Amino acid sequence: MPAIVELREVSVRRAGRTILGPLDLTVRDGERWVVLGPNGSGKTTLLSVASMNLWPTTGTVEVLGERYGRTDARELRRRVGFAGSAIEAAMRPDLTPTTLIMTARHGAFEPWWHVYDDADRDRARELGERMGLAGHLDQAFGTLSAGERRRTSIARALMPDPDVLILDEPMASLDLAARELLIGDLEALAREPRLRALILVSHHLEEIPAGFGHALVLREGRVLAAGPSQDVLTDDVLTGAFSMPLTVEGHDGRWTARMRRDP
Ligand SMILES: Nc1ncnc2c1ncn2[C@@H]1O[C@H](COP(=O)(O)OP(=O)(O)O)[C@@H](O)[C@H]1O
Ligand SMILES: [Mg+2]
Repeated sequence: MPAIVELREVSVRRAGRTILGPLDLTVRDGERWVVLGPNGSGKTTLLSVASMNLWPTTGTVEVLGERYGRTDARELRRRVGFAGSAIEAAMRPDLTPTTLIMTARHGAFEPWWHVYDDADRDRARELGERMGLAGHLDQAFGTLSAGERRRTSIARALMPDPDVLILDEPMASLDLAARELLIGDLEALAREPRLRALILVSHHLEEIPAGFGHALVLREGRVLAAGPSQDVLTDDVLTGAFSMPLTVEGHDGRWTARMRRDP
């Protein structure tokens, strides 16, 4: 299987400190990865590099066989859908989900001078409905609930029909029901062969959708473990990552973790 996302010896330095790496990551065709780690362990930085929104201090980034920096980054970035709270913060509160989803076709946030036709609008509404936004598509973004905003940003990421989808904490601040519904939607996306690779950041093992067969655990910017989920999501790895004795269990492709209280 060819590599879809390949990071080699990537590191990111900020304010005189290495906040990520050096690390390697290879995501192959068809793989679905979850990235776990405590607050500040570098998850968002890793996704920013992999989605080509951040230039690493060292190392190389290859996506879909093209080297970041050697080809037209705008064109390559269009093939990578990215959603997360950073993107939502850039969305104008008075625009509707339909407009915000539709404008992703040109990588824009506002209609500006781009020309959109009925097919673009129909596709935006179809994606919005598929992400559970029926009934909210003409409501101002600023009046949506956290879950509806998250669904808007994921539908937006899907608008250009990307080959790669990268999601930063899609379940953050959702209530239990919204979380479970979104997990179901992500499981459906994970089954779509059209998406060559999917990378998801999460804080909680409970949020990992079934079908995510690979995991990477970060601690202080370094890879503590990476590979098939059943090898990575273990008591030892998670205990090391979070500096707390943890017991991990997997059932039907879903996971739980809790503190181990020794008698
Ligand atoms: N631009 C920056 N300048 C200085 N430090 C930064 C910058 N961006 C991120 N960091 C720091 O790098 C670390 C990793 O951040 P981040 O990737 O956002 O972690 P995570 O997403 O795992 O919570 C954090 O300690 C954060 O404060
Ligand atoms: Mg983060």
